[in-house]
Amino acid sequence: LNNGLARTPPMGWNSWNFFACDITETVIKETADALVATGLASLGYDYLNIDDCWSASERSSEDELVPDPKTFPSGIKALADYVHGKGLKLGIYSDAGRFTCQVRPGSIYHENDDAKLFASWGVDFLKYDNCYNLGIKPKERYPPMRDALNATGRTIFYSICEWGVDDPALWAGELGNSWRTTDDINDSWASMTTIADLNDKWAAYAGPGGWNDPDMLEVGNGGMTFQEYRSHFSIWALMKAPLLIGCDVRNMTTETLEILTNEEVIAVNQDPLGVQGRKVYVSGTDGCLQVWAGPLTGHRMAVVLWNRCSKAATIAAAWGALGFESSTTVSVRDLWKHQDVVGDAVASFSARIGAHSCEMYSFTPRTVSRSEI
Ligand code: DGJ
Repeated sequence: LNNGLARTPPMGWNSWNFFACDITETVIKETADALVATGLASLGYDYLNIDDCWSASERSSEDELVPDPKTFPSGIKALADYVHGKGLKLGIYSDAGRFTCQVRPGSIYHENDDAKLFASWGVDFLKYDNCYNLGIKPKERYPPMRDALNATGRTIFYSICEWGVDDPALWAGELGNSWRTTDDINDSWASMTTIADLNDKWAAYAGPGGWNDPDMLEVGNGGMTFQEYRSHFSIWALMKAPLLIGCDVRNMTTETLEILTNEEVIAVNQDPLGVQGRKVYVSGTDGCLQVWAGPLTGHRMAVVLWNRCSKAATIAAAWGALGFESSTTVSVRDLWKHQDVVGDAVASFSARIGAHSCEMYSFTPRTVSRSEI
C-alpha cells in the first residue's frame, strides 16, 4: 500500500501470542516501559500493538466502539499518549466482520466511524482480522477499511489478517502494508517450520510498502529450544517478515534477549533493498538440509544454512544456488558469532550445523566478473 509506511518490514510487539485475552492497560504500559528499558525500542521495535479483547462486548448507545471498562478504564487515548511519550507507536485491532474472533464487536459496515475513532485516539497501526465475516469475500471486506483509514488523514499501518485463505499476496498489495499468508502460528517447531514453507511460496509479492506476514514471533514463549528460536528469528528476518515480538518482554531470559537484539540479523530484515529471501536449495531426507538466501544492498547476499534434520550435518551453499558466478570470490561473515569467517570462498561455502539449528551469514562478493566490468 502506497501510504508512505513500511518501506521496510514493521518491528514491534503484539499482545496475542503470550497474553491472548488476558490484557490490561497496566500490561500495555509496563510493556512500553520494558521495550525502552531493554533497548528493544532503540533497535527499531517501536510498534506496541494491542490485539483482540481490548474492547467491551457491546458498542455504546451512539454505536461507538468502547474500551473494556474493567481492563482499559483510562481509555485508549490516554494509553496512546503514554506510549507516544515513550517514543513508541500504538497499534489496535478490529475485524472485517460482525465480531472479532473473541466475539467483541467487529467493524464491518462501521469502517468510517471506527477508523475516525482510532485516528482520534492517536492510533498508528490497525490489525484487521477475519472472523464472523458473513461469508463475504475478503476482496470486498478489506478495501472499505483501507479507504476509511486513508480518509482520516492520519497515517495508519494497515495489517490485513486474512490468514492466507484467499491468497492475499495476489491482491492485497494495493490494500495493506502487510497480509497474513497463513493460519495462526503456535509455539512449536512443527508450526514454525510449516509456516515458513507456506510463506516462502509468496516471496515474489513482497516489497517496500507491503510484506508477506507469516505471523508473529514466538521467541521467548518456551515451546522451542534456543537453537530452534534462533532459526525462527533468522528465517523471519530473511523472509522480510514483520518482526513482532510475541513474548512477555517484562520477563525475558538473557537468551531470548540475545536473539531479539541481534543487530546484524535485524539489519538483514531492515535492508532497504526489501527483497524477500527464499529457500534456494534442499538436500537430505525429506529435504531437511536447507539453504535459504536473499539479496541485500551492495551486491551482498544473506544466507541461512538451516538444518531441519534430527542430526548434525554439513550444509553447503553453492554459488549456483545463490546466483553468483562460480569464479566469484566471496567474503563470509557469521551474523550470530559476529565474526568474519573467510575472506576468499570460491564456488561454495559449507559449515557443520547442529540439529534443528542454523547459521546465518552475509556474503560479500569481492571480485566483479569480467563481463560486469
Ligand atoms: C486470529 C488471528 O489470526 C490471531 O493473530 C489473533 O489476532 C486472534 N484471531 C485474536 O482473536
